[in-house]
Amino acid sequence: MSKSTVLVVGGNSDIAKPLIKSFCNYGYEVSITCRSEEKLQNTCNNLISYTGNKIIGSVLDLNDIDAVKVFFEHHQVPQVLVIAAGFMSLDNDAYDDVLNSIKVNYLSAVVLLNAAKKEMLSRNCGDIIVLSSVAGERGRYSNYLYGSSKAALTQFLSGFRARLYGTNINVLTVKCGVVATKFNQGISYAKEGRVLVSTPEKVANMIFKAFKKRKQVIYTPSYWALIMRSVKAIPEFIFRRLKL
Ligand SMILES: NC(=O)c1ccc[n+]([C@@H]2O[C@H](COP(=O)([O-])OP(=O)(O)OC[C@H]3O[C@@H](n4cnc5c(N)ncnc54)[C@H](OP(=O)(O)O)[C@@H]3O)[C@@H](O)[C@H]2O)c1
Repeated sequence: MSKSTVLVVGGNSDIAKPLIKSFCNYGYEVSITCRSEEKLQNTCNNLISYTGNKIIGSVLDLNDIDAVKVFFEHHQVPQVLVIAAGFMSLDNDAYDDVLNSIKVNYLSAVVLLNAAKKEMLSRNCGDIIVLSSVAGERGRYSNYLYGSSKAALTQFLSGFRARLYGTNINVLTVKCGVVATKFNQGISYAKEGRVLVSTPEKVANMIFKAFKKRKQVIYTPSYWALIMRSVKAIPEFIFRRLKL
């Protein structure tokens, strides 16, 4: 019998790495995408030595929406589709960063999911795991550009899940809190060991468990649900004064 397949979009993500290892240990055949040929080769080699498994991949720059649109015309839709890519700029008004945020965090995911949905529906089977963020729960002074693209992503996933209700396709939204990865490099509050900062291994472990249980929405770690409930309860006239 052929192995079940997983495709990880943004396979060089630090959170994706231990997640890929869990899928390999569970007997899945894993393929990845990376934004360039060089990144792809390096990432596949690193993942092969990290997991001890064969990892194959394709180049997909998520800023190139035309390429994203035809991706599944040239590649098989996997049993499990993981979208781990993300882009964050703390410059909330630079035009290129605005475009990158919309394309990488939102538009590419929408286009990929819509393309994969058709095949998954015809099989009546599939799992979708998308890494969103607690930043999408409320627009903050420091990163509202990133937060707004993740908010759009989270809302899309909510409606997409409703559309797929009654089918055997599960959509898991992961609302990540702060994780010490290269994504946050240079941000002092996000360093490993700081309060409320998780490791990629811990987060990946939670995601894999939620995948196996076919959960729909998780916060990683779960205490972020409580934190965000409190953050959302702060009245706007106070919140706008907080330089968070
Ligand atoms: N770390 C956190 O605190 C945190 C918090 C909330 C949510 N998240 C989300 O978790 C996910 C994984 O992030 P991470 O922490 O593992 O950070 P990461 O290691 O920086 O992973 C992000 C990945 O996105 C890829 N990417 C960015 N732009 C791309 C493009 N144009 N085309 C293709 N790939 C592109 C990056 O590729 P390269 O490797 O080539 O740069 C990188 O592999 C992201 O969606 C992020 O938004 C992270």
